[in-house]
Amino acid sequence: MTKFQLTLRGMVLSAALFVGLPAFAQYPDKPITVIVPFAAGGPTDVVARLVGEHMSRTLGQQLVVENVGGAGGSTGMTRVAGAAPDGYTIGMGNMGTQSAAPALYPNLKYDPAKSFDQIGIANFTPQAIVAKKDTPAKDLKEFLAYLKANSSKLTYGHAGVGSISHVSGTLFNSKYELKPALVAYRGTGPALTDLVGGQIDYIVDQSLNVIPQIKGGTIKAYAIAAPERLKELPDVPTTKEAGSDFLFSAWNAMVGPKGMPKEVVDKLASALDKALDDPAIIRRYEELGSTAPKKDERGPAGLQNLVEREMAYIIPIMKAAAPAN
Ligand code: MLT
Repeated sequence: MTKFQLTLRGMVLSAALFVGLPAFAQYPDKPITVIVPFAAGGPTDVVARLVGEHMSRTLGQQLVVENVGGAGGSTGMTRVAGAAPDGYTIGMGNMGTQSAAPALYPNLKYDPAKSFDQIGIANFTPQAIVAKKDTPAKDLKEFLAYLKANSSKLTYGHAGVGSISHVSGTLFNSKYELKPALVAYRGTGPALTDLVGGQIDYIVDQSLNVIPQIKGGTIKAYAIAAPERLKELPDVPTTKEAGSDFLFSAWNAMVGPKGMPKEVVDKLASALDKALDDPAIIRRYEELGSTAPKKDERGPAGLQNLVEREMAYIIPIMKAAAPAN
């Protein structure tokens, strides 16, 4: 911003305060950065761009995604927590970064329940158990037997320690006493590329990331870790139908640094709410095997409740199941 623009901005702000307008009445008056703490093309990135595009139209300013990968998403979310609380830097975190991370990073530089102003939940999505195309198992039962017999020779891909794919994979592998080599990526976008190429053996990933490849036959899906099958994948059984009680639901959520003005949080939360009610987004979510939060789960309070509940649930489990970093 040039010196002139800064001065002008200062004058507008003081004039607004003088006449009693809230200082952020004109918010947003420039583009908003949305930090996505994983590589482009992965599930968190897809959700951020989908709702962000709609929010841009409502807010009248571009929401510009910046992918900041590393450390299971905690690098990017640390950036969000430390940003100026002016509404011009927000982030799309997820169940990994916003609830499990404290269990895996003792020196984590943020507290998911205290370091952010929650904006709202963006989506829920079940996990899918997927493997490379030529895996020699026709169903989950055979896949588990194959994994047990060969896991020390197999590789499991994830988006970094503390990511959803790492947390869900850790719970899946420890449940069945599997010890594959873990291969970390900056997101499950690149991990999926290697699964399609046969460089890694399996992933437990957000269904929204893997539905196109499953439909295209470039990877194998053994089960959806949810109570119901996905409309988009009618032939893929639930884990229960396939003989397993493994269940795992993931979510992505929008947050900003602590201390943003209430009118800014309200504008962002209401723009997200509007996006989630848009028929085109509802349709796209269905294609991706995702669901929007119900009305009473939305907004800052809905996300704060979810973060607190999930932290209380997953942190003790992850501390027991996975070594801290
Ligand atoms: C994860 O937590 O596994 C991430 O959502 C993966 C990604 O978005 O790339």
